[in-house]
Amino acid sequence: MPLENILIEKRGRVAIVTINRPDKLNALNIATRNDILEAFEQLAGDDEVRVVVITGAGEKAFIAGADINEFAGKTAIEQRGMMKGRRAFDSVEDFPKPVIAMINGFALGGGCELAMSCDIRIASSKAKLGQPEIKLGIIPGGGGTQRMTRLIGEGKAMELMLTGDMISAEEALALGLVNHVFQPEELEAKTMELANRIADMSPVALAMAKASVKNAARMNLREGLDSEVDLFALCFSSEDKEEGVRAFIEKRKADFKGK
Ligand code: COA
Repeated sequence: MPLENILIEKRGRVAIVTINRPDKLNALNIATRNDILEAFEQLAGDDEVRVVVITGAGEKAFIAGADINEFAGKTAIEQRGMMKGRRAFDSVEDFPKPVIAMINGFALGGGCELAMSCDIRIASSKAKLGQPEIKLGIIPGGGGTQRMTRLIGEGKAMELMLTGDMISAEEALALGLVNHVFQPEELEAKTMELANRIADMSPVALAMAKASVKNAARMNLREGLDSEVDLFALCFSSEDKEEGVRAFIEKRKADFKGK
């Protein structure tokens, strides 16, 4: 079933999810958040898809934040009720396959938060990132204060939260907020190259690696180290582990099946 505000395109083992409200700079209204939940549910169960790339339609924006029009007149109880339900950004973070944010323009507020819910962020040199909520008299509510602090540290995250300043892709790179920056005309090819390289790995090992890295922010060091051993050992129950080891010994490329 096609979704109203999202396009899904499959290119081999990589699915590209495009937030498609370019006239509104891909601002996330409630319907689009529900579409994200639906899209990621579909893609989780699709064995052909091994990596997801998420981006924004049009030249200008990745996502310019939550749809501000939906804030007007909302009560605290209504807003809280909505945000305590199934959360689109958490579904991206918990998605069992790698997700790459291809940041083609403005990534503000909820756009920056969605990018930070992804596993890797690749930005166009013309992208601008920030958490401008403070200018509306509110704060980030989609994980911004938590995920950014873990990603770039308290001091830098605090400055961005308190000023609402937008930063350039190069500044975001220097902060570790994005992994790579490319010229706009190279962005898609470079992102797909990375996505395809990751998609060649064992889906079982990718899921374990993602879960284990995520645990670093959720557990203390001893719990994280113990859990890592369990997830490492779990890889030994996969056929992919035998294939990977055999391929190395036989000096050939491994053909991972995800089993
Ligand atoms: N929510 C709802 N609509 C938004 C939006 C948002 N977060 N961001 C942009 N839009 C809409 C604009 O209202 C405008 O719609 P219109 O043509 O019907 O008037 C359209 O998208 C284009 O945006 P515009 O502001 O004209 O583009 P710009 O190039 O002048 O400015 C931004 C770009 C990103 C600087 C500006 O749109 C902006 O500040 N957006 C809000 C960012 C924000 O505060 N996000 C956090 C929300 S919690």
